[in-house]
Amino acid sequence: MALFIVLVVCLSCLILFSLWNRRHAKGKLPPGPTPLPIIGNILQLDIKDILYNFFPSLHYFPGSHNELFKNIANQKKFIMEKVKEHQESLDINNPQDFIDYFLIKMEKEKHNKQSDFTMDNLIITIWDLFSAGTETTSTTMKYGLLLLLKHPEVSAKVQEEIERVIGRDRSPCMQDRSRMPYTDAVLHEIQRYINLLPINLPHTVTQDVKFREYIFPKGTEIMVSLTSLLYDEKEFPNPQKFDPGHFLDESGNFKKSDHFMAFSAGKRVCVGEGLARMELFLILTSILQHFTLKPLIDPKDIDTTPSTIGLGSIPPSYELCFIPV
Ligand code: HEM
Repeated sequence: MALFIVLVVCLSCLILFSLWNRRHAKGKLPPGPTPLPIIGNILQLDIKDILYNFFPSLHYFPGSHNELFKNIANQKKFIMEKVKEHQESLDINNPQDFIDYFLIKMEKEKHNKQSDFTMDNLIITIWDLFSAGTETTSTTMKYGLLLLLKHPEVSAKVQEEIERVIGRDRSPCMQDRSRMPYTDAVLHEIQRYINLLPINLPHTVTQDVKFREYIFPKGTEIMVSLTSLLYDEKEFPNPQKFDPGHFLDESGNFKKSDHFMAFSAGKRVCVGEGLARMELFLILTSILQHFTLKPLIDPKDIDTTPSTIGLGSIPPSYELCFIPV
């Protein structure tokens, strides 16, 4: 209890200090209207950064965050072992993969103090690719199957399209997607509806930026609301409803939408978009080619509300049966 009170007092002090600091700093902002109320202000407050910057010893307090740090440390240890194996087997005339190419570049630039090809960057880049590229796709798939359990009529229509376009004698391939507008629409609708990364990833402006009548001073942390696009009522009427029709025209052709930005947009758009879209199409069609999904409860009782919404939107746990077709 005493520890809890100490923590509450420390937290209150930190928040007060940060509020004071921001009020104080406001006078130094470039001239212009107050930054955008939500993005510019509330989201500039990164509690984690504030806590760790001011109070690094929080790291040592008990709590589930330690599990996360432990896992990340283990993952980095694993990556370091792999890099070591690559160093031992490296043949500069016959690089085998990303790590080999990176190691060669590191060797070439070893005298350049400004080089980005460092061991730290190699490890964090591999970690970044793995962390950004695994749970995103698997969570989308997990959420997608739940939505298909809830909407068996949608699953049945996808299966009908699979039967017509692919059949049962071969595996699905990427060329099939352009001939499967309904399945394409279902995949887009899954990604739209689940809104996997509602506030994208955080970015920081590297210089003062004028956006409409707002000023974002250099260093402002920006979080873009992807929800505002994916749940735009004009673009997707009745956005709270899971409806593949959001991506189909009257003739049943696939209808592209500029609001579909589940992978973000611009210079920092997800580098794995093509891979992820390919994985989602091939995995879903392969499953439905061979199995019919059966829920353990009545579809109308299936709750598709996310179990957690933080940086990501996570589906609730559920059980299902795969019935061979
Ligand atoms: C359904 C699957 C996926 C979704 C919805 C998704 C979405 C996103 C989004 C919204 C971003 C942030 C873009 C920005 O900063 O503006 C991002 C970044 C990124 N994604 Fe994906 N992604 C998916 C799968 C993948 C896959 C399969 C890979 C790679 C193998 C990947 C690699 C990355 C990387 C490396 C970044 C940049 C991270 C950084 O800036 O540090 N993603 N992704």
